Amino acid sequence: MATKLVKTCVFPVAGRGTRFLPVTKASPKEMLPIVDKPLIQYAVDEALSAGAEHLVFITGSSKRAIEDHFDSHPELEGVLQAQGKQELLDLLRGILPSYATCVYIRQPAPLGLGHAVLCAQPVVGNAPFMVHLADDLIDAPVSCLKQMVEVFDTYRGSVLGVQEVPRQDTDKYGIVTLEKMVAPRIGKMTHIVEKPKPDKAESTLAVVGRYLLTPGVFDDLAKIGRGAGGEIQLTDGIAQLMQREPVYAFQFEGKRYDCGSKLGYLQATVEYGLRHSSLGPEFAAYLKELATTL
Ligand code: G1P
Repeated sequence: MATKLVKTCVFPVAGRGTRFLPVTKASPKEMLPIVDKPLIQYAVDEALSAGAEHLVFITGSSKRAIEDHFDSHPELEGVLQAQGKQELLDLLRGILPSYATCVYIRQPAPLGLGHAVLCAQPVVGNAPFMVHLADDLIDAPVSCLKQMVEVFDTYRGSVLGVQEVPRQDTDKYGIVTLEKMVAPRIGKMTHIVEKPKPDKAESTLAVVGRYLLTPGVFDDLAKIGRGAGGEIQLTDGIAQLMQREPVYAFQFEGKRYDCGSKLGYLQATVEYGLRHSSLGPEFAAYLKELATTL
């Protein structure tokens, strides 16, 4: 049964998105669209589906578009109303349900993911919370965060969303080591290391941008120094938390697209395009035709 203990989701969106320059020069990478919805809206939809009511965005420079996206736009709504475009009006008004509140906190300096999460502490307080990295788009019949809330409800400990990655990619992820499986997809963790080299990694089980954390992690994040890449790493905070509390790695059901890379972004665009309600069949026909010329 759902506890509704987890009501806040933190979205660290201060990153510069240099891998997508020049498109990210003046607009946030989180506003890149997959077909017709920005990545950050997929992220918020997932958090809402998992029961989030408070959405905390940790922002930086050039991120105003995210605030505008989740705000009302009376002028545009007035124009659509005057033109009788009710469907579009409903689409805009449905971006956020009325019960959801958005809080924007500016990360004063790019000190890393752990520091970004620590910036959310005044809003999160002493309750478990979710962290969602919008770069990692996960398509699943039951959203990844919702699956994780169910795991939390059973085990009452922090839960990280993980999946197997090729060994040559371990230095792109937080890599976890398990002590034992407590259920088919759920393992109790003994170690977590940020971006180990392939020959040093203890496993190939990688954290992919979904966390459900107990608030104790804030104490650890406040104490740890800079880690990999000279940044305050969320991974290092979790490693400390694990000394006091059980932390679980959960191999969620679903397909993950690495939208922080151009290839992953294109793959997501094609697959979501194929599944799009009005566009899908025509797009599939186009791709079939195109494939014959490759
Ligand atoms: C971050 C985390 C890393 C995690 C990854 C998932 O790294 O630090 O532990 O595995 O997200 O996408 P980043 O991709 O921001 O370098």
